[in-house]
Amino acid sequence: MKNVTATAHPNIALVKYWGKRDTALNLPAVGSLSITLDTLETTTRVEFDDTLDVDRLELDGVTGGAGESRVSACLDLLRDIAGADTRARVVSSNNFPTGAGLASSASGFAALVVAADAALDLGLPPARLSELARRGSGSAARSIFGGFVEMHHGRRTDGADCIAEPLLPASEWPLAVTVGIVSKAAKAVGSTDGMELTRETSPYYSAWVDNAETDLQAARSALDTRDFEKLADVSEHSCLKMHALAMSANPGLMYWQAPTVAGINRVRALRRAGHAVFFTIDAGPQLKVVSLPGELPAVRDALTTIDGLQEIVHTGLGEGARVVAGS
Ligand code: PMV
Repeated sequence: MKNVTATAHPNIALVKYWGKRDTALNLPAVGSLSITLDTLETTTRVEFDDTLDVDRLELDGVTGGAGESRVSACLDLLRDIAGADTRARVVSSNNFPTGAGLASSASGFAALVVAADAALDLGLPPARLSELARRGSGSAARSIFGGFVEMHHGRRTDGADCIAEPLLPASEWPLAVTVGIVSKAAKAVGSTDGMELTRETSPYYSAWVDNAETDLQAARSALDTRDFEKLADVSEHSCLKMHALAMSANPGLMYWQAPTVAGINRVRALRRAGHAVFFTIDAGPQLKVVSLPGELPAVRDALTTIDGLQEIVHTGLGEGARVVAGS
């Protein structure tokens, strides 16, 4: 058995997923559509070792931690397929803040599954890797692929049709993404707990689920015609609906902070002035601005003067998860 290192990038949903139809299998109630980023990166080494009694995780230099049992449960799925029971040492690092709404669980589980697949010599097809990554974190299924990616909610109870699919490579529509980091602290309510609370308590939940396919259709058609305005409209609408839904849980979930709201207003002002930009926000305070590459100076100018914004990171669209080293 080998020692394999893989990398994966986080992805940002433009049409959002919020809510699960099955929590044990991590099956989303709605489909979603995302872009995979390039500069932000998780690098994960997986080494199966006969001398270990349990799986060991070192994440960003810290051993053990809350993620270890989730990682171990995900490795069990791959061990089952391989007919192996050897435990693994997993060493993972992110070049960006972990657990703060920058989709570190998406890149983390995508890199883990790709590295473990290669270390166990499984050679599973990408669709299968997507399904396995989903078991670790719903959005991780999308980070297996690069560029624009659609995640299907699927209908099967075993989740075999609940996988992501690449729609358009990054090179076909190379959009730019600017991340405004508002806080590097881990979020108070994680996405799984937040989704369950929302499903159980929000009076708007069924309307959200019923409406999802309309947004997906609009986003797919915007991709087909490279219609930036159309993609901007549907992405902002989906983002605001997701956050309105989360706020309508009881107790309400509020992921935004003051600089997040200031950022939304700045981006809206840019759009009104004719710039090709739009915002999106996941389950955390960070503001993500998607734009045509030529708009980057305008986006930077608009964000730099926001009080409390800690850092601005520019990135483009990137590739899917891949093996980078192995022995
Ligand atoms: O993959 P999870 O369980 O962390 O959930 C992701 C939820 C959002 O980022 C808010 C939306 C999405 O589709 O990525």
